[in-house]
Amino acid sequence: MTDTLRFALGTIPFGTTVGRRETFDLLDRFVDAGGTMIDTANNYPFWMPGCTGEESERVIGDWLVARRSRDRVVLGTKVGARPRTPGDTTLDDVEGLSPTVIRAAIRASLTRLLTDRVDIYWAHIDDRTVPLAETLGAFDELVRSGLAGTVGASNLVTWRMADARATALAAGQSPYTAMQLRHTYIRPRPGARGSSRVQEYVTDDTLDYLTERPDVTLWAYSTLLSGAYTRDDRPIEQHYRHPGTDARLAVLAQVAAELGVSPNQVVLAWLMADEIIPIVGVSTPAQLDDAIAASRLQLGADVRQRLDAPR
Ligand SMILES: NC(=O)c1ccc[n+]([C@@H]2O[C@H](COP(=O)([O-])OP(=O)(O)OC[C@H]3O[C@@H](n4cnc5c(N)ncnc54)[C@H](OP(=O)(O)O)[C@@H]3O)[C@@H](O)[C@H]2O)c1
Repeated sequence: MTDTLRFALGTIPFGTTVGRRETFDLLDRFVDAGGTMIDTANNYPFWMPGCTGEESERVIGDWLVARRSRDRVVLGTKVGARPRTPGDTTLDDVEGLSPTVIRAAIRASLTRLLTDRVDIYWAHIDDRTVPLAETLGAFDELVRSGLAGTVGASNLVTWRMADARATALAAGQSPYTAMQLRHTYIRPRPGARGSSRVQEYVTDDTLDYLTERPDVTLWAYSTLLSGAYTRDDRPIEQHYRHPGTDARLAVLAQVAAELGVSPNQVVLAWLMADEIIPIVGVSTPAQLDDAIAASRLQLGADVRQRLDAPR
């Protein structure tokens, strides 16, 4: 029997830079290897010229129907970060998280995904213009009506996540059960940010919060830094540049060499050892196989301690 893979499949390029046939092949390969979790959004990849942002959901829906795979996968999509104006390739004026938007967006996503429910429905971004109680009330309706199995929040800082869960629980509503944040083995400089205005990083605060809230799952994106751990054509971004990064990269290289695996595998296995679900973006079978191997790699306690040591 194949063990269930411990990572989710990212799908940003599916149906666009990764064509339909290649997308089907990657999804088949993922599921055949024991993969279940698939992560998409109602705006992937709206920023690419000529794209609507509906391509990823549509090709996944086609695959689900073609392969009759809906019941084999844990399907997640997101609402909130779709530009209000078609053709806008920025995040300057997005739909946000009002109840009206949420109710319409889930229906539109389900239509594209050719299914009657998603297993996890994510708030893609924070929207502080809408009272939390209103957003959470709308998400709760979706869970009660069976359109969403559970709800999660992406790009919320920890205090907003804590507020949101407290608000929902006090009202007897479904709380967010998962957080989706940017996270990898190396850490950004405190206070430094990447080019995205909306992406939020895992911080020590997040990890402390999750220790106290074991019923909240962390899903991590951009874990492989677009391939920067192994590829010269993908430099590590400036905001990760500091002495702690040099020390971490040195240990990572040593551990990968000792174990005879790729640094990417060590990064993913290190995350999964802490019950974090990495969302791995792949565009080729070889990249997918690297992630599958990582899912089967168990790091010993001594190795994890060495990896954790450089701060
Ligand atoms: N909630 C959010 O705000 C948010 C934000 C970003 C992403 N996400 C989710 O997370 C997923 C992954 O995000 P991401 O694309 O930023 O992740 P990433 O892991 O940083 O980058 C994925 C890219 O890394 C390269 N790569 C993957 N495996 C490799 C390997 N074994 N060796 C060398 N290069 C490799 C590939 O680049 P090439 O294809 O160029 O070869 C791949 O497309 C997305 O698809 C999406 O589902 C969520």
